[in-house]
Order: sequence, then structure tokens, then C-alpha cells
Amino acid sequence: MKINQLNIVVLTGAGISAESGLRTFRDNGGLWEEHPVEEVATPQAWQRNPSMVWGFYQSRRRQLSEVEPNPAHFALSKLAEYAKDFFLITQNVDDLHERSGIMDVVHMHGQLRMLRCELSGKSEERMEPSDLESDFQFCTCCETASRLRPDIVWFGEQPMNMVEIYNKIETCDVFIVVGSSGHVYPAAGLVNFAKQSNAQTILINLEEPLNSFMFDETHFGSAGKILPKLVNEWIEQSSL
Ligand code: OAD
Repeated sequence: MKINQLNIVVLTGAGISAESGLRTFRDNGGLWEEHPVEEVATPQAWQRNPSMVWGFYQSRRRQLSEVEPNPAHFALSKLAEYAKDFFLITQNVDDLHERSGIMDVVHMHGQLRMLRCELSGKSEERMEPSDLESDFQFCTCCETASRLRPDIVWFGEQPMNMVEIYNKIETCDVFIVVGSSGHVYPAAGLVNFAKQSNAQTILINLEEPLNSFMFDETHFGSAGKILPKLVNEWIEQSSL
């Protein structure tokens, strides 16, 4: 694959951050096992028990400073450097892609670094030590400061940036998915859209996910081992 001649779109899921020490959602011991979705990841949960939801996300926000990007994140930033065109979509709410050197990451499901004003809907980056305390935080945009919620897409809410995402996939040559179980739509259906747009589709995942039959090429194993090798192979092929 001559990546220097190709327009590449990558979609990542929780699996790419697993080797950095962040738990995935649906694997054994995954986050949803200990914290049911209905209790921490829906607008109804936020209305019913905001303290529980706030506590869940504050602890995940604090955890960001304890983890580092892993070889899979760095392999993607190398791919971004060598590809003719590169666009990264992530379902992840962590900041590990940015910290591996890719600055323009499109987050479909929001970002832990950001909080959103409940009244105006405006998001602000809030990662100072005082922003990470257990108490609710308040916005800087309203005259009387309003409560902030996590800037996360909960179940029943619309994923972010979908128009841009479909536009980029429609014109890509290669669509690569890394570390996603294929359970959550619309992300899980993007591979169908890529195929309809005549892109080559490649999957890298620990285990076979639900939608693996949609991919032209599959690689099963840990992303931290597989991706650096694949990217190096593609770079070599490009220089021939
Ligand atoms: P899941 O937890 O559903 O799936 C993670 C996938 O990564 C699984 O298929 C694992 O086999 C794979 N995996 C685990 N470790 C890996 C490794 N080291 N290398 C490669 N693959 C590995 O996570 P997502 O598919 O990202 O949404 O979940 C999608 C969405 O569901 C999340 O964004 C979140 C969740 O509910 C919201 O919170 C809105």
C-alpha cells in the first residue's frame, strides 16, 4: 500500500487506549460492567442522579494525567505524517491521540478535557486542578454561572461532527478501524459507508468484532504490536 499516494481515514475505539491502561467498555472487566450505562451515561441518569454521573466522569478526567499514549497511538501519528491525506475520527473521550502528536482529532463522543454549560451549550476546556475536584463546576459564559455537565455524548444523544465525518469518508481511499467492538452506531456503520464509497477497509482489533465481515483486510491481536509493524511496512512500500 503506497500511503504517500492515499487519502486515509482512521476510526479508533477504546481498544487503542487499552494498552495505556484505560479500560474498554465491553470486554471482561470493562467500564459498563461496574457502572451500568443507564446509571452513568444517559441524560436521564444526569437528571436523576447528577452526583453519581459527575463522580464517574471526574474520576475518568483525573485519570488522564496518569496515562500516556502507547505505541499504537504513536504509529498513527507516524501514518499521519506519511499519508497523502489523513483524517482521524475517534470514539474515545481521552486525549491520547493529541498527546501522540495528532492535533486535529475529531471526537464523535466528546472529550473528557471539556465541560459543557447546561444553559448555553457552550463547551470549555477545564483541566485545572480545581476543575477536577468532586464538587460540581460552573461555567464562565453565563452572567450567573450555570452548572457544567461532562462534554460527552450520552446514549440517546447525537454524536458530534457527523457531516464532516461522512464527507471525509466519502472521498477516502482507505478506511482503517482500530480497537472497536462494532456495537455502537453510527460509528459501527461507518465501514459500510466507506465500502459504498469504494474505499479499501482494514480492521485491527484484539478479537473479532460484530462487524468484521465488512472489512477487506483484518488483523487480530493487540494494536500496540500490530499497528507499528503495519505502518512501517506501508512506509517501506511507499518508498519503493
Ligand atoms: P468497546 O469496549 O465496546 O470495544 C473495545 C474493542 O477493543 C473490543 O472489540 C476489544 O476486543 C478491542 N481491544 C481491547 N484491547 C485491545 C488492544 N490492546 N488492541 C486492539 N483492540 C483491543 O469500545 P468501543 O467500540 O470503542 O460510547 O465502544 C464504542 C462506544 O461505546 C464508546 O465510545 C462508548 C461506549 O459506550 C459512549 O460512551 C457514547
